[in-house]
Amino acid sequence: MTRIAILIGSTRPGRKGAQVARWVQERAVRREDAVFEVIDLLDHPLPHLDEPLPALAGRYQHEHTRAWAETIARFDGFVMVTPEYNASLPGVLKNAIDYLYAEWTGKAVGFVSYGVGGGTLAARQLRTLCELLRMSAVTPLVSLSLKTDFKDQATLEPGAHHVDTLDTLLDHVVAQSAEGRAATPTQREADEAAIARHFDRITDAIQAKDLEGLRRLYASDIVSFDIDPPLQHVGIDAKLRNWAKVFTFFQEVTYEVRDLVHTVGEEVAFTHGFGRLGGTLADGTTTGGMWVRATFCFRKIDDAWLISHDQVSVPLDVLGGKGVVDLKP
Ligand SMILES: Cc1cc2nc3c(=O)[nH]c(=O)nc-3n(C[C@H](O)[C@H](O)[C@H](O)COP(=O)(O)O)c2cc1C
Repeated sequence: MTRIAILIGSTRPGRKGAQVARWVQERAVRREDAVFEVIDLLDHPLPHLDEPLPALAGRYQHEHTRAWAETIARFDGFVMVTPEYNASLPGVLKNAIDYLYAEWTGKAVGFVSYGVGGGTLAARQLRTLCELLRMSAVTPLVSLSLKTDFKDQATLEPGAHHVDTLDTLLDHVVAQSAEGRAATPTQREADEAAIARHFDRITDAIQAKDLEGLRRLYASDIVSFDIDPPLQHVGIDAKLRNWAKVFTFFQEVTYEVRDLVHTVGEEVAFTHGFGRLGGTLADGTTTGGMWVRATFCFRKIDDAWLISHDQVSVPLDVLGGKGVVDLKP
């Protein structure tokens, strides 16, 4: 089913945005051709944009960005509810939009604006912004005036003609979202992309020596056949102890993966490839490290891919009885 988010673009105490979004939602839920969900920026507090790379790069460093990206990625289209602040859209909405790129691109969007004069300047700028993100902005615009559509400039009582415009706007957003949805990646492609992103997250967490970040990437009952003894490391705490050991070993850690091949099923997936840990050791010497073979087995748990088994090895020189540590992929 096509999924549409109704995004509330203001967060200030006493805002009218929540009333407007509720009105849109009450109208929208009568439809049977899409499901609608209100997304409130108050539930997704984001600092002023603090990602080092532009969103276009698709490599989000912060957990709050990844969580926001996952929220927006779930939807096929949007109705953005925006007030007008000083002839423009609210900074909080602009900031939330600026955080992401791929999650917006190609999706339909419609605007419901409000303000003293209907908020049309905000809607116009929002349209320009969304078009820049290669979203497909629908033509109908609902524009509510504080003077005529809010009783005592406080309680929303929209004129009847706005209901018709809202219905037309929703018709367009739903139709274009359904079209876009048909062209969006299959579940398998999306899963493969999620698993590829998992390796970006592992790399980032290792290089940041972020044990809590790593904890979120493994299943709690992981069985790890890591490179060093014993034969197995059972459970997330044992796995994290290994990483903690690495982090005391190195002042600065670098981690690199290469030639990753993902095989993805509905509930399980596996990846094989090569990995290399390097960096600056505690005594100040730098090392490029050795390439190891690595296999990662994933399970989908509560809709998130987590590593539930990994195996790291080097080939054995059988006659010499030693591991071969100088091979390169
Ligand atoms: C900082 C600020 C600037 C505003 N500037 C405008 C404006 O330029 N044009 C307009 O029509 N209304 C303007 N207004 C009125 C708002 O559109 C109106 O207060 C609206 O309810 C704000 O949305 P909110 O209640 O969801 O925060 C402004 C309000 C605020 C708080």
